Amino acid sequence: MNPLKHVAIIMDGNGRWGLKKKKNRNLGHKEGLKTVEKIIQESVKNKIKFLTLYAFSTENWKRPKNEINYLFNLLETFLENKINQLNKQNIKFKVIGIKNFSKKLNKLLIQSEKKTYKNTSLQINLALNYGSKIEILNAFKKLKKKNELINEKNLTNYLYTKNIPDPDILIRTGNTKRLSNFLLWQLAYSEIFFEKKLWPEFNENDFKKIIFKFKKIKRNYGSI
Ligand code: IPE
Ligand code: IPE
Ligand code: MG
Repeated sequence: MNPLKHVAIIMDGNGRWGLKKKKNRNLGHKEGLKTVEKIIQESVKNKIKFLTLYAFSTENWKRPKNEINYLFNLLETFLENKINQLNKQNIKFKVIGIKNFSKKLNKLLIQSEKKTYKNTSLQINLALNYGSKIEILNAFKKLKKKNELINEKNLTNYLYTKNIPDPDILIRTGNTKRLSNFLLWQLAYSEIFFEKKLWPEFNENDFKKIIFKFKKIKRNYGSI
């Protein structure tokens, strides 16, 4: 049975779910947040150490202003209402990506990170304004600036995921099979699960099924 430490998820399909229900993409984002809460709790139950959630990519700025604002408002409300509960559950919150949002949101993100910094159960990495290419390029720039040797160990020290083991599992919901600039370096040996369901439809049972399948996979890492 494979040990499971880190699950990464591309939470895709919110917009389509909202359109299907009520011709409103934002409704899908609101419903998708409920799935986030379910999956956080199921991760705790399964003693998973790291849960990395792709919430907003560096490319998502191309979306209409109203949708972007709605997403960030949802996140603000979520943190304001839920960070204390997460803290009580010994959950650590970390943002991966570049925090260049409104003053209010930047502050809230930093406060949430600080408040939960010492927690030791599940660590949630929220990928926000995250782009894997920028992450890797910045890591190379830092190596160059500090005149350090270019090798795997030194490079990974400058990724946002420093000290975090690579994902064992990547899940992408929403019936689309691509990586959309997510963790390109870190996913080198992850087991990938593409799910037909849209993110708001995804539930604890779907998650448990994936974990069950993952545990039985023979992971070769190039060996036999
Ligand atoms: C993913 O759902 C969530 C974010 C990008 C914030 P989408 O909004 O991409 O939903 P679809 O893919 O358009 O249905
Ligand atoms: C990836 O979903 C980003 C997030 C889930 C946050 P997108 O819906 O933005 O990806 P593309 O544009 O379809 O590749
Ligand atoms: Mg999408």
